[in-house]
Amino acid sequence: MTDTNYSIRPLTTQPEFEECAALQREVWGISEAEAMSSITMHALAMAYPRTGQLLGGFCGEQMVALMVCLAAFEPRTGYGHMLGVLPSHRDAGLGRSLMEESIKIFRDQGGRWYCFTFDPLESRNSHLYLNRQGARGIRFKPDAYGVSGAMHGGLPMDRLLARIDLEASPQFPPPGLEQALQKYPIAVPDRMPEDEAVLVEIPVDIAALREENHEAALAASRSARLLFTEYITERGMVSCALVRGKQEGQPRSFHLLKRQTEQET
Ligand SMILES: CC(C)(COP(=O)(O)OP(=O)(O)OC[C@H]1O[C@@H](n2cnc3c(N)ncnc32)[C@H](O)[C@@H]1OP(=O)(O)O)[C@@H](O)C(=O)NCCC(=O)NCCS
Repeated sequence: MTDTNYSIRPLTTQPEFEECAALQREVWGISEAEAMSSITMHALAMAYPRTGQLLGGFCGEQMVALMVCLAAFEPRTGYGHMLGVLPSHRDAGLGRSLMEESIKIFRDQGGRWYCFTFDPLESRNSHLYLNRQGARGIRFKPDAYGVSGAMHGGLPMDRLLARIDLEASPQFPPPGLEQALQKYPIAVPDRMPEDEAVLVEIPVDIAALREENHEAALAASRSARLLFTEYITERGMVSCALVRGKQEGQPRSFHLLKRQTEQET
């Protein structure tokens, strides 16, 4: 259960699977063919063998959010495949509650490494995963799904593969913006410092930027691709926090990239 009017429960019936597919189409703007089939959802809802989890977030009786987690072949590993909340129900804690419920079920089954991919240009998602759930962005995957960016307002679908180690010590909260800017250099494509930790700026609201200035959104995506390729893929760093705050009244968001510890490799 989450706060106010929301509740979370496993999806088990055909009408719920159909509602879940409709919700996927609405949240991601995908076609009927691209949404998960109810046959697959039946498989994910089986009591034995456990192939995954299928959760719905409800406002009253209306399904307004969904979470799909898949079992992985690697021992004690799960893969959070989909997490989506209807725009009108965002920023009310539902995404976080769904993810925490999914992680709790996974932990109760003996799971340790909870993996998923996310768009590092999405400031909200980056905050939720890196800061709130203690995930680390450990690999950068350009064009992660091998499909065009139609689902993504025409931008490339680059993703970070993130992992939460449920047995790791709790993380420190991220530094404030001012403190981070004093301590770490900002990396840009034509100046990539050799430091042990750097900041990579992302738009505060990529969805709004896509609508207002598509060229600027594309430029942000290209710049982030170069920087994540260099620091994560080539230099072996990880994204360990989203630093956000205001500078001279302007909101700004940065990924904090650091060398990974042995535990994170
Ligand atoms: C990502 C998503 C699931 C989050 O769901 P949600 O219910 O809005 O999330 P929550 O309300 O639990 O948490 C949002 C957090 O982001 C913060 N936030 C909001 N806007 C932000 C921004 N521009 N930058 C950084 N953080 C932001 C909120 O303050 C909140 O953090 P807090 O709990 O510390 O205050 C939802 O936005 C969504 O469905 N997005 C589209 C689909 C998607 O991208 N899914 C994930 C990948 S498959």
